Amino acid sequence: MKVTVFGIGYVGLVQAAVLAEVGHDVVCIDVDQNKVDNLEKGIIPIYEPGLTPLVKSNFESGRVKFTTDAKRGVEHGDVIFIAVGTPPDEDGSADLKYVLAVAKTIAEFMPKHKIVINKSTVPVGTADKVSAKISETLAELNKNLTFDVVSNPEFLKEGAAVNDCMRPDRIIIGTNSETAEKKLRELYAPFNRNHDKIIVMDIRSAELTKYAANCMLATKISFMNEMANLAEVFGADIENVRLGIGSDPRIGYQFIYPGCGYGGSCFPKDVQALARSASEAGYTAQILESVEAVNYKQKEKLFGYISAHFNGDLAGKTVALWGLSFKPNTDDMREASSRVLMESLWDAGATVQAYDPEAMEETQRIYNGRSDLRLMGTKEAALEGADFLVICTEWQAFRAPDFELIKEKLKEPLLFDGRNLFEPSRIQEYGLHYYAIGRGL
Ligand code: UGA
Repeated sequence: MKVTVFGIGYVGLVQAAVLAEVGHDVVCIDVDQNKVDNLEKGIIPIYEPGLTPLVKSNFESGRVKFTTDAKRGVEHGDVIFIAVGTPPDEDGSADLKYVLAVAKTIAEFMPKHKIVINKSTVPVGTADKVSAKISETLAELNKNLTFDVVSNPEFLKEGAAVNDCMRPDRIIIGTNSETAEKKLRELYAPFNRNHDKIIVMDIRSAELTKYAANCMLATKISFMNEMANLAEVFGADIENVRLGIGSDPRIGYQFIYPGCGYGGSCFPKDVQALARSASEAGYTAQILESVEAVNYKQKEKLFGYISAHFNGDLAGKTVALWGLSFKPNTDDMREASSRVLMESLWDAGATVQAYDPEAMEETQRIYNGRSDLRLMGTKEAALEGADFLVICTEWQAFRAPDFELIKEKLKEPLLFDGRNLFEPSRIQEYGLHYYAIGRGL
């Protein structure tokens, strides 16, 4: 099938590569000429396991092409994905200007009926706005054409994006058009094996499904972080509580890991956006507002422990920091807990010596030129001359460190762990003082 994807960001690029891999003929459009040139040279703008070879091989075989030529893109695809960004507005609601600009472009260049698929995470009601924009532009141009707009949200996770896209848990198709449903069933047939993963519903329910899924997951995390704080208040160990409740299949073990807060480009933005659009519609989404507030506080947790330990006197301290990305297997620093921590440490006069397996360049780009940030080549180098160690991201490479070496290198045998990676009793055997989240301080 001929497919066009507008927006070569995370979602667009992974989706395009995966659709090309199963044999569809894909054209990707982006406004960024530099990005297009790089992709043609095999330079992929993001770090995502498995993505580079997938993009390269499909580009070489001609199944995926990259261009800034919107006209060519619109003419090409029977189905046209909108996968451009929806950054948060100042008040936290999703900004639709890029989505609506693509809708206008599609209307300008479409020579015949097209199926337009909203893949970006967009507020409920956006498909109607996209339809209105296309209709309005067609009318202005005196073009008498029909079209369908479908909501088909994406559920991929960073770090596992290719696999999630290749083997989706579910494929949500929000449409009231039989033509569109038939076409999307055909498009996704290669991914719909073993059992039927396609769930067809009305457009608004599909749009809300995406937010509801992310908000539910974010709620689980904030709930566990609140329990971790209660565990501290009551002298309990949240890790025992986690095992105790996870064993109930109605609760389950997934997404109940307490820590120094959730980050990334999705949870913080989506929880905020749904809460804001609820409030615009006159409804106070109390749970969502609390989920956000708990997470905000949780990101300050590590700094709170550190500051309390040193009675607020952090001036001149050198802090070894392991883990910068918002989670392992990505170089993404958006809304990462490490940023909140580093910025508080800097405000308090400390210097950060950091190491991350993938996010060093990104950190350099964000905090370019800061003299109180030193990016080190290995996790051991980050310990050199540091007063104490903090862990913010649960990279595999941090799970079995050389504790003897840590103790030897640090000026104080002190470890703050924002991801509960170790058994406290084990760390204490090495003579290290250990702070973790909700483990009976
Ligand atoms: C999230 C969802 O998991 C995907 O299903 C969704 O498709 C995606 O957003 C999206 O909307 O595009 P992602 O942001 O890549 O995916 O990352 P997650 O793996 O969900 O992790 C989010 C954050 O939660 C991380 O900071 C992680 O450290 C934190 N987390 C996760 C916890 O603190 N505790 C947990 O138990 C799980």
